[in-house]
Amino acid sequence: MARLLFSVPYVTGSESTYVAQAMASDHWQGDGPFTRRAVALLQQLTAARGVILTTSCTHALELAAVLVGLKPGDEVICPSFTFSSTATAIVSRGAVPVFVDIEPRTLNIDPAAAEAAITLRTKAMFILHYGGVAADLDQLLAIADRYGLALVEDNAHGLGARFRGRHLGTFGTLGTQSFHETKNVAMGEGGALLVQDPELLARAEIVRDKGTNRARFWRGEIDKYTWVDEGSSYLPSDILAAVLCAQLEGFDDIQAKRMHVWDRYDTELADWAGRSGVDQMYVPPERSQPAHLYVLMMPSAEDQHGLIQHLRERDVVATFHYQPLDQSPAGLAFGRAPEPCTVTYDRAARLVRLPVYARMTDADIDRVIEGVTSYTPCC
Ligand SMILES: Cc1ncc(COP(=O)(O)O)c(C=O)c1O
Repeated sequence: MARLLFSVPYVTGSESTYVAQAMASDHWQGDGPFTRRAVALLQQLTAARGVILTTSCTHALELAAVLVGLKPGDEVICPSFTFSSTATAIVSRGAVPVFVDIEPRTLNIDPAAAEAAITLRTKAMFILHYGGVAADLDQLLAIADRYGLALVEDNAHGLGARFRGRHLGTFGTLGTQSFHETKNVAMGEGGALLVQDPELLARAEIVRDKGTNRARFWRGEIDKYTWVDEGSSYLPSDILAAVLCAQLEGFDDIQAKRMHVWDRYDTELADWAGRSGVDQMYVPPERSQPAHLYVLMMPSAEDQHGLIQHLRERDVVATFHYQPLDQSPAGLAFGRAPEPCTVTYDRAARLVRLPVYARMTDADIDRVIEGVTSYTPCC
């Protein structure tokens, strides 16, 4: 039996046609017809006022760090339980990531811990919506407001996910998306910045295009473009944007297939989880989840290794997830944690992620479910 992989990209069918069209055109660089089409599709999906396509979510986070005005020595609060990119974006400006703990059930940043970590140097909070399940936005927005902090939502996991009907990434100052190969909608490597404020949007167009006002030139608003601000090069080629268009047009189909996997896990693992002291994913009221990932919280660290190994013996690939950033070599060098992130340490040591992707067949899902339910936790 072939190995059941952890993540496989899904092809909607139009990718190669669109790539061929982009290549046959005379516009291979960024900001061409496919980029405009992808931006329109993302605006429709997220209802964000402005969308800036980027070469990765990491670059969207770096762009956000510039736009919120981070300076050397500023402090930025972020969860210890997130991907390195959330922190590298902060460090790229010479600012200091201040790592705080997460809530036990959603694995999202704990608002009380975030508030307790605020100092006179705190400039912003960079938060993650883990698995695309919204963090406690009511409390986090109130804290941002109370202390005059920018709130950047790393929504790498959450395309299509909502809180009270509104798309994640559109609540704070800025939001970021990832279109990495492992995400629901993929272009190999890619991302986007969601922007509500027109002034930030105008500056974002400049910063991501080598500090020039070339986007205004393309639109015919100025005769010549020139260097007007700091910047970098975060525009993806229109050839890659062609892939993204195909994926976004197939979004409903991708989501329906991924939801089927997620729903089967959730329903069919419930008895085993209840008997075995395993916690399934928790989606609090008023949130939707986008079927980006499915995690099981095992009773012990031994059982994390135990289940991953048990599945590996059945040629099914399951994994752990983020390792605490505050304990990582770079986290210790560049950041600090005012308090030990004990929930993060505990959850990182017990969490198991199961394969979730649109190409999974019912036989694949059966295989994962049989593999999981034939495991008996040891501790
Ligand atoms: C929370 C989070 N932020 C950012 C990233 C980085 O995304 P990208 O690979 O598009 O830069 C990831 C990657 O998985 C992630 O999980």
